[in-house]
Amino acid sequence: MFTTALAQKSPANELPIDLFAAISDLKKELNAVILAHYYQEPDIQDVADYIGDSLGLSRQAASTNADVIVFAGVHFMAETAKILNPNKLVLLPDLDAGCSLADSCPPQEFAAFKAANPDHLVISYINCTAEIKVMSDIICTSSNAVQIVKQIPETQPIIFAPDRNLGRYVMEQTGRDLLLWQGSCIVHETFSERKLVELKIAHPEAEIIAHPECETSVLRHANYIGSTTALLKYCTKSSAKAFIVATEPGIIHQMQKDAPGKHFIPAPPINNCACNECPYMRLNTLEKLYLAMKNRTPEITMSEEVRLAALKPMQRMLEMSK
Ligand code: 13P
Ligand code: SF4
Repeated sequence: MFTTALAQKSPANELPIDLFAAISDLKKELNAVILAHYYQEPDIQDVADYIGDSLGLSRQAASTNADVIVFAGVHFMAETAKILNPNKLVLLPDLDAGCSLADSCPPQEFAAFKAANPDHLVISYINCTAEIKVMSDIICTSSNAVQIVKQIPETQPIIFAPDRNLGRYVMEQTGRDLLLWQGSCIVHETFSERKLVELKIAHPEAEIIAHPECETSVLRHANYIGSTTALLKYCTKSSAKAFIVATEPGIIHQMQKDAPGKHFIPAPPINNCACNECPYMRLNTLEKLYLAMKNRTPEITMSEEVRLAALKPMQRMLEMSK
């Protein structure tokens, strides 16, 4: 019975005892680079060659010499890596790792919105599908959205998609009137302002730091607002010893590494869930990452027509944020 069970086991899904060592071996064998977002589980961050925010990851994807990119993030990020690297194998450990923000901008509806405003330049947050990138003039990330909008002549009307919260933040920072697509991220919209204020009262010494995907009701309490990389840098530089972190708590792993001795408290959500983990980012696991490398699948693919059209606004972003 035992022998039969062993014989039926698929070698493709067998896991080694030391996953870390096996991933390291596969990295050499494939000439692969592992790129991970800060929202990935700590084990994945620890095997990554590069950990970063969306802008940093795009830059790494654009400059890597590796033959294989293992993207530990969500689908739009791996898709962006493929747009920049048509000849490389781009692997995503779990193809279902999507994004509520990208899903909140369906291509057909966005095409109609764009057609109704033909004089507008379209600036899209990188958290969108390749189809939306194709309809965009410039891509931005949370690191460079303000910088990019500031470079556009004041007389030029702009559509900003898909995140209304980042869009509102950019409007405040630039004084520009942007036509906003009403999309949002389920993770950043679940923070409770009331619970945040209660937490601040309990920890008056802590600074509140927030990602611009949060709602205005949360951002208005923040001592500092920035992309995940900017938040990480801020924690290491600030003289504060404690921080209430209003973004996905995966980033706290790096914060603890980069600023040991400081105290990081995840901002509380509206519901009674213990955390605000992104359900899409967390679909990737170390086991799935290993299997993706071993089996060279799941792979990101797209038509060359879509890729070339999506590349243009990506290249404009990289040029405008040097
Ligand atoms: P950044 O990587 O630009 O900080 O954005 C966070 C995010 O929500 C990625 O999905
Ligand atoms: Fe998308 Fe929000 Fe998850 Fe980022 S945190 S991948 S924006 S759902």
